[in-house]
Amino acid sequence: MNVQEKILKLRSQLQYHNYRYYVLDDPEISDTQYDMLLRELEQLETEHPELITSDSPTQRVGAQPLEAFGAVDHAVPMLSLANAMDEEEVLDFDSRVRRLLETDGDIDYVVEPKLDGLAVELIYINGKLTVGSTRGDGRTGEDITHNLRTIKAIPLVLIPEANYGKPRRLEVRGEVFMNKKDFAELNRLRQDNGEPPFANPRNSAAGSVRQLDPRITASRCLDVIFYSIGIAEEMQIQSQTELLAQLKSCGLKTSQLVKTCSNIQEALAACADFEAQRNDLPYEIDGAVIKVNSFELQSRLGEVSRSPRWAIAFKFKPQQAFTIISDIIVQVGRTGVLTPVAVLEPVRLSGVEIQRATLHNQDEIQRKDIRIGDTVVVQRAGDVIPEIVKSVSSKRTGNEKLFIMPDFCPECGQKVMRIKGESACRCTNAACPAILKGSLAHFSSRRAMNIDGLGDALIAQLVEKQLVRTVADLYTLSFETWLILDRMAKKSAENIIKALEISKQAGLEKLLFALGIRHVGEQTAQLLARHFGSVKRLSDASHDQLQNIHEIGPEVSDSIVEFFSSEENLRLLKRLEDAGVVMEPKQSAILDSVYTGKVFVFTGALNRITRPQAEDMVRQRGGKASSSVSAKTDYVVAGLDAGSKLEKAKKLGVTILSEDAFLQMIEGKL
Ligand code: IVH
Repeated sequence: MNVQEKILKLRSQLQYHNYRYYVLDDPEISDTQYDMLLRELEQLETEHPELITSDSPTQRVGAQPLEAFGAVDHAVPMLSLANAMDEEEVLDFDSRVRRLLETDGDIDYVVEPKLDGLAVELIYINGKLTVGSTRGDGRTGEDITHNLRTIKAIPLVLIPEANYGKPRRLEVRGEVFMNKKDFAELNRLRQDNGEPPFANPRNSAAGSVRQLDPRITASRCLDVIFYSIGIAEEMQIQSQTELLAQLKSCGLKTSQLVKTCSNIQEALAACADFEAQRNDLPYEIDGAVIKVNSFELQSRLGEVSRSPRWAIAFKFKPQQAFTIISDIIVQVGRTGVLTPVAVLEPVRLSGVEIQRATLHNQDEIQRKDIRIGDTVVVQRAGDVIPEIVKSVSSKRTGNEKLFIMPDFCPECGQKVMRIKGESACRCTNAACPAILKGSLAHFSSRRAMNIDGLGDALIAQLVEKQLVRTVADLYTLSFETWLILDRMAKKSAENIIKALEISKQAGLEKLLFALGIRHVGEQTAQLLARHFGSVKRLSDASHDQLQNIHEIGPEVSDSIVEFFSSEENLRLLKRLEDAGVVMEPKQSAILDSVYTGKVFVFTGALNRITRPQAEDMVRQRGGKASSSVSAKTDYVVAGLDAGSKLEKAKKLGVTILSEDAFLQMIEGKL
């Protein structure tokens, strides 16, 4: 055997043992034997560097630190799930599914644990890991390939599957997470080093994969479980159970807890079973996902408002614990609202230490009769933000103190206003440092302008040193000014300036959200951006014009008009524009103009993607998806068993595409 053959043999042995260990959880050799094989390979590669390839198991942490993350467009959007809070809502879901499918019969469901981590997409081309990205906003995520490569449970090359070999292109989706044990260990280390601990395993997983330096990610024990796909060429899959089996045989780890159920009652029993096991599992789960098993039925059910109609997340009951309120402090948010926050004696709740809980407002404190010194029941709602359920009055000693909201803002000292009809108290000082800090944090947050590296600590310094008075000032700070800040080295100052430059291209929808206009959340911002296409046109819009948009009500339109009638806000926008912040929709929002206005009709069962996914791809490119064929139809995409629509298309001479041809055409033009 020559050196090259030896190297190839070692690589495939290591790959096989990796698979036995991570995917099957059934190793055939000891860790020491594995390490010996790896060392042997390393030795040969050191002697013959010309034989090193990027998919060698020695090359997981090869990449140099990045300057910033690139963007990755998801060919098929990554959706989120609607929630069911109890059994009744699950039964409603089942009724809805059967009504939409026009059947009285039972539906086959698959129940999977809902992992509490970070959704990622991996693209394998000819079996090789090529790109890995975060979910981002569902359409565009961040390129974190270099970090995902360091996760040992992620194969760098796929095992050729028995039925179809290596798919030419496989986009596989799953959750990256941290096991409870590794999370506790990481936080212990961080505290030893004087670093702030992560709030929960989810945050630590998310923080770990969003590192510019892959060596940091490699040092964090991350794990992965796969559960769905985007595009999977050549894979003939009819159901979720088949998909999971095929992923597993490719070497992609799937959950061992999955249950196939032949009706909704069995699915509910599986959910209860997962909930009972949750504390014994090595990782956190915050619910169970119930999915219609058949892909054909999934495709018929489609999706609404970014969630599939064929799946639902059954949320587990929050976990509760007792603790004592040692103090109540007041925080001021970006809208000036004062929020009382309970400082708690630290208590562990589902594996996480809790030290604070929001008390919302004065009315809430009175209603629950909560006092400083009280013993209280806390729970993690949605399993992240802790809340106080009730105080235990039988534990009172008489030393508890009543809390009253202050009349003055704790940050700037200005008298606060209690707004009629609202339970909130608000600081109305436009120059209040807390409001400014909140606005800056919102403006720079990931879903807004995404200014990488501008965290709370830096923002606090910028405000306290009076270097920034509005968000527009961020773009005027010089390199030297950034260097004045504590713990700011040359490299980090350069990175921040670069991140600010990149953020200017965020586009209209992100900008509108970032401005923090009351009632304008992400969805509304997107809607406004699409509808008006520029800040100028939106700022000229009247109440009537705004309200003519279906999704916009009077409250939202009031607040938009009010925002744009303020001289100060107009000045702010002018300064942002002068700084080079893009005031139009991002070009990639509409991906390709070749399809603008083109009408597509899908008929028959699609194989590789669902119908809503296909329709979304058309819409993303500015086209329209219609349900009936007419002379105005440009393309008919015919899947399996296409019937009368296909006939009509032939008669009318409309261009007919197969699913493959459609994907090739629409992807080729990306
Ligand atoms: S399926 C359209 N399966 O939950 C289908 N998602 O709210 C969406 N998640 O972004 C994905 N475990 O991060 C699916 N077994 C599972 C999951 C799961 C966790 C996460 C995922 C997704 C979010 C949806």
